[in-house]
Amino acid sequence: MNNGMNPDGCKEYVIGSVRCQVSQDADQAAVLVAQRIAQIIREKSEAGEPAVLGLATGSTPVPVYQELIRMHREEGLSFQNVHSFNLDEYYGLKKDHPESYQSYMQAQLFSHVDIPQDQAHVPDGMIARENVEESCRKYEEAIEACGGLDFQLLGIGRTGHIGFNEPGSQANSRTRLITLDPVTRIDAARDFVGLENVPRAAITMGVGTILNAREIYLLAWGRGKASVIRKALEESPTEDLPASLLQGHQKIIFALNAMAASELTCVRSPWTNGQVTWSEAMIKRAVHGLSHKVGKPILKLVDRDYQLNGLEELLSLYGSAYELNILVFKRTQATITGWPGGKPAADDRSRPVPSDPTEKRIVILASEPGVECSPLGGTLNRLQKQGHQVSIVYLTSGGLTVSGDAVNRLQNLLAMIAESGGVLQSSENLSSGLLELVKKISDEATTEQAIRSLIRKHHSALAMSALNLSESTHHLSLPFYESGGYRNFAPSDQDREVFLTLLNKLQPHQIYVSGKMSDPSSLEGVCWQLFEDTMSDWGEWKNTNQIWLFREGGDRWESHEVDMAVPVSPDERALKEVAMAKYPVEIFLDKMDGALRVANDYDDLGLPEYEEIEAFQLHKPSITA
Ligand code: GLP
Repeated sequence: MNNGMNPDGCKEYVIGSVRCQVSQDADQAAVLVAQRIAQIIREKSEAGEPAVLGLATGSTPVPVYQELIRMHREEGLSFQNVHSFNLDEYYGLKKDHPESYQSYMQAQLFSHVDIPQDQAHVPDGMIARENVEESCRKYEEAIEACGGLDFQLLGIGRTGHIGFNEPGSQANSRTRLITLDPVTRIDAARDFVGLENVPRAAITMGVGTILNAREIYLLAWGRGKASVIRKALEESPTEDLPASLLQGHQKIIFALNAMAASELTCVRSPWTNGQVTWSEAMIKRAVHGLSHKVGKPILKLVDRDYQLNGLEELLSLYGSAYELNILVFKRTQATITGWPGGKPAADDRSRPVPSDPTEKRIVILASEPGVECSPLGGTLNRLQKQGHQVSIVYLTSGGLTVSGDAVNRLQNLLAMIAESGGVLQSSENLSSGLLELVKKISDEATTEQAIRSLIRKHHSALAMSALNLSESTHHLSLPFYESGGYRNFAPSDQDREVFLTLLNKLQPHQIYVSGKMSDPSSLEGVCWQLFEDTMSDWGEWKNTNQIWLFREGGDRWESHEVDMAVPVSPDERALKEVAMAKYPVEIFLDKMDGALRVANDYDDLGLPEYEEIEAFQLHKPSITA
């Protein structure tokens, strides 16, 4: 393995036979990938040959397509000689279904460039069962007839799938029908507004089809992908993790942003790769990592553990394991506090939060209703009990997560009430009456969306009342969400203005916010960007403000990244569960154990054993006062 900075400003690592380009952010990485695609298209065009591209869907390739569209518009990049073959398509979805990959490709690329429609291929998801095999064979033949794939673009799923090649897919598999993994379906549930709407099968190019491409780029952004990227690159190739089968390819490049690369050994433990300058954060990471690796609490680590694990240099810096253990143990211990708003009149020199002022104005920024309970329900409860002025700010309505079924149920219930009370003669009357009413009280784009937003607002009101915080909520319903959709959120100055005005009004001493580590196209990623964009216009209060980053859903901080660890007692855990139960269960599908896992990590390090720990990292923005 070696590494270096390449002229485009991204770091290059070589892991086995795979080149990794690590850019600071996703847009920067996407531009490099788009430039490579454009180069292939142009070279092939000059040679009078077709450029045969394997294309991918999902949020990840969106910035690449945006850059290609820009090049088409501004630099004359033509797609006339491009023959494209998409990786996959949901089985059973009509072409014009909003979630079909055919619709996706039209919206994200095809309709914006000059690719001839008959050269843009997406597998047919509506083919009858008995014809699937033949259709898949023809797809392969069509690729071959064009001369094979010059370039294959890939994203990666949480199961390690490429295309829809789920775990178990063989290295020589070809285009075929496949059953989707439950994890993949859960991840798609948001796009389909409910797990029940997600297809159970898909047609996908095989791993073998992909490996036949002459050049492959796999893209990943955000911390959510870091773990699967590490496995794909550092573990032995296995069918259990199809992306790892790319390791043998002669020209494979992983284009990552810093967050997606953050678990790679070369990034995470640079000392294994040569000499480093030891920072406090790096020492903590090394000692925590060692403790987890050898399965011993910090205070039981001995010199030999350090020596056998490449940390000899740390020993010589600190004299012995004993000194180092105590230093890191104490530093970690100091992150634990039951006073997330600061402990009044306490010596706060080594506490995460200053004691003054005793009563703080605290703002919780939730990208949508539902994301606040699991990562900080216990902290919210404490802050409120400890006398702080807590404001929960829901940036968006969350209406996109409310299923049509929930809207129908609400209408049916109201119809039943009205009918049984003789208020209205028929349920149709009531439905239209309800729509009229909502139109009057709402200025949202569509009435249906307004009802969805109200349903989610109702859930959050119940949840916050369970935590005794019902008086403290603000629903910003930022316009970018109401007029957008996943992968297509485009915040404007109006969103920024609404957000900024509220922050400057609330003048918080503490802000809790998520999304810094997320895929920038995800809702929390977009909200983080909006938040960061407002910083330069914060009032005087910014000088005394602390920003605490939480991680949404099942994501969690690793123990060495935690600056404040708020213990959750069994009673508080029960309270959180009551609050969470106010939201429909699908909001928390598979995403509830982040705080539990942090508690286990702390326990393993030899710190006190808690029911849960809600963990936060201090954000240090580079703004000038
Ligand atoms: C789907 C697609 C994959 C894609 C994956 C990740 O499963 N079939 O091709 O890589 O989603 O999607 P995202 O980029 O949205 O994380």
